[in-house]
Amino acid sequence: MGDHLAPAPYLRWRGWQSGGVNSRSPQGRRASLEKQPHEVAAMFDGVAARYDLTNTVLSFGQDRSWRRATRAALGLRPGERVLDVGAGTGVSTEELAHSGAYAVGADLSLGMLHAGKRTRPAVPLLAGDALRLPFADASFDAVTISFALRNVNDTDAALRELARVTRPGGRLVVCEFSTPVNPAFRTVYLSYLMRSLPAVARTVSSNPDAYVYLAESIRAWPDQAALAARVGAAGWGRVAWRNLTGGVVALHRAVRN
Ligand SMILES: C[S@@+](CC[C@H](N)C(=O)[O-])C[C@H]1O[C@@H](n2cnc3c(N)ncnc32)[C@H](O)[C@@H]1O
Repeated sequence: MGDHLAPAPYLRWRGWQSGGVNSRSPQGRRASLEKQPHEVAAMFDGVAARYDLTNTVLSFGQDRSWRRATRAALGLRPGERVLDVGAGTGVSTEELAHSGAYAVGADLSLGMLHAGKRTRPAVPLLAGDALRLPFADASFDAVTISFALRNVNDTDAALRELARVTRPGGRLVVCEFSTPVNPAFRTVYLSYLMRSLPAVARTVSSNPDAYVYLAESIRAWPDQAALAARVGAAGWGRVAWRNLTGGVVALHRAVRN
C-alpha cells in the first residue's frame, strides 16, 4: 500500500502502509498520558538500574530485533548524524551507531543517563527535553525516538521539535508500542499487558509500579493510522508505518518537509 510513495535511495518503502483517515481519534485516548516531565523523569530514575534486563525479559527478547529494525528503517549511512531522543540508558543509541553514523542520545532522566554512562561509556548521552532539544535547527540527518514518545506529555509538540532539529529531507523513525492487528492476538496481548506484565515486572524491576503505567499508557496510545496522521501534521511528509511482532510495535517513518 505504501509503494506509491516515491522512494528515496536510502529508504525501501515496500511493506509499509500509509493513510490515517479511518483511525480512532487520538484526542480521546490520551487521558492517562498527561504525565508531568518531572514525574516521568522520576519514574525512569526508579527503573534505571535494571532497565535493560527488565526490557528484555518483558518483551521475551524481542526488543533486540525491534531496535535492529529501527536502525534499518532509518537508512543511516556512515558519517551521518542521528539523534536518539528519549535514549534512556543508550541501548537504542548504541544500536544506531552500528550503522557507522554518529549517534547521540538525549534524555530527561538523569538516572537513566547515569546508568547508560556506566554500562555504555562510549555512547554520547546528554540531558535534554524532547520538547526543547538543546540543538540548533537542522542539526541532524535523521532523528528517532524509541519507546519514549508515549511518555512525552505533548506528543505533537515533540514531533514538531524533532522536525526542527532535522534538516529538510532528513528522516524520522518512531518506534513505539502499538495496536496488534489480529483481533484474537490483540485480546491475548491486552490480557498479558494488564495482568501478567505487572506481575512479571514485580520479580525483575526495581520499580514495578512503573510497569503498571507502561501497560496503561500502551493501551491508551493511538493506533498506527492515528499516530501517522499526527506525524504528518507536525512537519513531516511521506509518512508510512510498518508493524513488528504483529503490531505489538510499529515503526513510523517520515521525511522532513
Ligand atoms: C522506555 S524508555 C526508552 C529508552 C530507550 N530509547 C529504549 O529504546 O529502550 C523512555 C525514555 O524516555 C525518556 N523521556 C520521557 N519523556 C522525555 C522527554 N520529555 N524528553 C526526553 N526524554 C524523555 C525517559 O526518561 C526514558 O528514559
